[in-house]
Amino acid sequence: MKPSFLSGEIFGLAGVAYAQPEMAPQAHEIAQELGLSRVLGADAIEEPGQDWALWLVVEPQRLLLRPMGSKAPGPVTLDFLQKDRLYRFQNAQHERKQPLGKAIGISKGTPRVLDATAGLGGDTQMFLAWGCQVTAIERSPVLVALWKKALSQVQGHPVLQKPFEGLEFRATDAIEHLASAPNPFDVVYLDPMYPQRKRASVAVKKEMQVFRHLVGNDEDASELLALGLKHARQRVVVKRPKHAPVLGDREPNFQVKGTVVRFDVYLSG
Ligand SMILES: C[S@@+](CC[C@H](N)C(=O)[O-])C[C@H]1O[C@@H](n2cnc3c(N)ncnc32)[C@H](O)[C@@H]1O
Repeated sequence: MKPSFLSGEIFGLAGVAYAQPEMAPQAHEIAQELGLSRVLGADAIEEPGQDWALWLVVEPQRLLLRPMGSKAPGPVTLDFLQKDRLYRFQNAQHERKQPLGKAIGISKGTPRVLDATAGLGGDTQMFLAWGCQVTAIERSPVLVALWKKALSQVQGHPVLQKPFEGLEFRATDAIEHLASAPNPFDVVYLDPMYPQRKRASVAVKKEMQVFRHLVGNDEDASELLALGLKHARQRVVVKRPKHAPVLGDREPNFQVKGTVVRFDVYLSG
């Protein structure tokens, strides 16, 4: 079943806040795009209480998803320039032999990749670091807002601007995109939301709590896999928790296992 992103209620967002008064117009613009009516200064959004409420906070360089309340998990953001991400980007060649690189077959060349579940863009950023042409698709309007802000920060960046020229970002549903017979891709990459994991670390659980609150469980992921299999020229790669069952009916041709996740690889033809 597809999630419905029709109202602020369903986004799971309480409203939009601005970190500084000069960010207020941008906060209003984003709220209007998302159909949200509450826009406040960030110092006015303290909501102590048992339950937490999720706010989208406009900061000068990024948007932040900030849960407020006494039991709230930590904030989540998308920032391609963030220190650890930039470090990983600049040292990406060392990661070619890691499970993700093996799964997409990076040693055989630089494939054209469809990242159909873009999320917070971590995997997209790695594909770009390896020199791939990437189409990244995200359907959650809140995450799309995070992407737009993050991409605006890449403009003119000495390290990121050039490789990011190989990126096309689309705010749509990948199922619709694939069903509309797009240009072919060598690799279709899927990282849908996982079934809830009992043994996940506390930090992962907290980030996932915020994420799941916004995007649900991606219950249509096997439909996406079926379409991916029709369109990928070389392979479809599905990221799964290490012990989760495979997605869909077909067994993968092979699996690449990491410490907590594995990649199921379905070869074309
Ligand atoms: C687990 S996250 C992906 C994380 C991502 N690989 C990263 O590195 O940040 C899954 C994301 O895929 C998105 N998604 C799931 N199915 C989709 C579809 N059919 N079209 C577009 N986006 C989809 C969800 O909204 C969610 O943001």
